[in-house]
Amino acid sequence: MARPEIVCRAACGVDEGAVHHRIRHEVFVLEQEVFATSDVDAHDLGDGTVKVLGWVASPGGGWEAGGAVRLYPLEPGIWQGDRLAVLAPFRAWNLGSHLVRFAVDTAALLGGLEMVAHVQAGNVRFFERLGWWRRGEPEVYVGRPHQLMAIDLTVPTLRRHALYHSDQGPETSARTSA
Ligand SMILES: CC(C)(COP(=O)(O)OP(=O)(O)OC[C@H]1O[C@@H](n2cnc3c(N)ncnc32)[C@H](O)[C@@H]1OP(=O)(O)O)[C@@H](O)C(=O)NCCC(=O)NCCS
Repeated sequence: MARPEIVCRAACGVDEGAVHHRIRHEVFVLEQEVFATSDVDAHDLGDGTVKVLGWVASPGGGWEAGGAVRLYPLEPGIWQGDRLAVLAPFRAWNLGSHLVRFAVDTAALLGGLEMVAHVQAGNVRFFERLGWWRRGEPEVYVGRPHQLMAIDLTVPTLRRHALYHSDQGPETSARTSA
């Protein structure tokens, strides 16, 4: 089946902000039970935090919000991405990949030099295919096995996009780029 058209952008206004949080809640509280009652934390209140929604074109026209991700600066030049969530009916349509790329491109546009993420152990390969590399040993993060991963934001955007799905190891791709 052809994959639908996808658009990612920062959530705009109160209503889209609520949709962003609903998607995260459905995935991290209700489905995965990573958080008992709420996945909201202090970063959601930060001025520099970007809350993203991924929209999927409906066959009958219009757009449905199917995924979310969040990004924020940790320190000058270093951004963190987290709360990547695609609702179950929208999975395997490339929405998760689009959200990660959008978060990376946004952090780069905002002057970031590097982006990091604490990735659930089962998603490490998903991120590697998007040009991220592992940093250090597996860790326990929010009570579950995770892997700290990073991506170089100084790689020119077009070159970074060419590396997506190339299966070229990040050690020889993003890290050695001009
Ligand atoms: C992980 C998640 C974001 C992936 O979203 P998705 O929209 O289904 O992923 P995509 O369709 O963009 O996947 C792109 C490719 O990666 C593959 N892929 C998806 N999840 C994968 C995984 N965990 N490991 C390896 N490959 C994976 C897909 O099969 C697809 O391959 P293809 O292009 O060859 O067909 C989604 O499954 C999800 O929200 N899971 C629950 C919450 C979660 O785990 N969040 C991430 C926390 S680190």
